[in-house]
Amino acid sequence: MPAHVVVGAQWGDEGKGKVVDLYTEFADVVVRYQGGNNAGHTLVVERDGKPDKTVLHLIPSGILHDGKRCVIASGVVVDPAICLGEIDALQERGYLQDPEQLIIAEDASVIMPYHCALDLAREAARGDQKIGTTGRGIGPCYEDRVARRAIFVRDLFDRDVLRAKVAPILAEKNMLLAHYGEETYDLDELTEQMCGYGERLRPFVKDARAFIREELQRDRQLLFEGAQGTLLDVGLGTYPFVTSSHTTAAGVCVNTGVAPNGLDQIVGISKAYCTRVGGGPFPTELDDEVGERLRQVGNEFGSTTGRPRRCGWIDAAALRYAVRINGMTGLAVTKLDVLSGLETVKIAVGYTDGQGNEWDEPPMNVDVLAGVEPVYEEMPGWSQDITDVRQWEDLPTAAKRFLERLATILEVPVVLVSVGPARAETIVMRQLHR
Ligand code: GDP
Ligand code: IMO
Ligand code: MG
Repeated sequence: MPAHVVVGAQWGDEGKGKVVDLYTEFADVVVRYQGGNNAGHTLVVERDGKPDKTVLHLIPSGILHDGKRCVIASGVVVDPAICLGEIDALQERGYLQDPEQLIIAEDASVIMPYHCALDLAREAARGDQKIGTTGRGIGPCYEDRVARRAIFVRDLFDRDVLRAKVAPILAEKNMLLAHYGEETYDLDELTEQMCGYGERLRPFVKDARAFIREELQRDRQLLFEGAQGTLLDVGLGTYPFVTSSHTTAAGVCVNTGVAPNGLDQIVGISKAYCTRVGGGPFPTELDDEVGERLRQVGNEFGSTTGRPRRCGWIDAAALRYAVRINGMTGLAVTKLDVLSGLETVKIAVGYTDGQGNEWDEPPMNVDVLAGVEPVYEEMPGWSQDITDVRQWEDLPTAAKRFLERLATILEVPVVLVSVGPARAETIVMRQLHR
């Protein structure tokens, strides 16, 4: 079946954007299925002989390929101002010249200004217990969806409909905002502002589920782009230090209407090490000069919030879990170049608590996970710069051994290795196929 998934295998920022952009060449349609502008997906492509960087928060990472349709599915939460800003910025740079290229689901939930205000107010109130959210209103918007009071994108097309829907919701939100000492919103102003966005979004808004169904029936190649990462899944991640959507491959089904047995290849993306932004346990985190080196060499500062990312060794115990729950058929390893120059490299293969308990996958009770120590395998590193390598054979032996060891531990083939941020800086071992 021609439906493939790219999913983050860690805590996000694995390089999903780069891999999706690369795979788009072999796809007809690229679909974002969950999350919102908490995501930041970076693409670097050659333009006029120079590397040209694009950071996308909402629009699928296939958008730089002329003629490839991109869908924001109903499982995504859409901040209309951000979405329009991204559309404008792309169009100014010569992309997205045909509005038909982008489809926004009419029943995607809208992130309203009060969602962002509540996200920030709640985080501030949590003090040192904060999740470290991106402050983009993601959690509060998904809350409203589950509570059956979501504002859909299509609701922004009709002033009366929107006003009637928002009125009872806003009464409650304003009470909450007042409780936190924040400014409240005026119903008429809010309605006016949101309808203005609706008018501009309208040319892109369609029945995305019907489009996806028809494309699959026509045997077109669909690529589903995950945001965040496996361990940030609201159901299967390190709760409560998670995002508010289903980031794993299963999220494709409930968010787009593709049946579970309709998925073909599921490619998990992992860095050759590990990072995390925000709070929550991170067993392989390094608070030493190696961690700092990874942050500097890997430029580990958030593409959405600019926050420094926490860095550590690759965690194959956590990846083993990611392989299992996503049904991963292949692993793409990114940022291998960042490890160049380290004398030795480590892979965590399990955990202990020093009291005789051992785990080969992360215990999902975060209080337990916070107390474990990783069990490492240490391997020789390599000193060569590998950013120019394009063939597996040309990688240093130690780098090949590192990747082979990962594949053995995880029982999944490495299908792609990324050795730099640019589209071309990639070793593709196995392409997506029909
Ligand atoms: P995403 O959220 O999973 O799409 O990842 P981000 O874009 O947030 O973060 C990945 C960062 O690493 C971006 O700055 C990419 O340009 C960069 N990147 C991706 N692959 C590689 C790689 O193989 N090597 C290096 N050095 N940088 C990479
Ligand atoms: P991409 O798609 C890394 C993290 C936040 C926080 C937690 C909850 O670029 O990989 P939220 O704002 O979603 O309620 O925050 O999730 N987080 C991410 N971390 N990459 C992301 O997206 C993330 N999106 C959310 O830092 O810890
Ligand atoms: Mg990111």
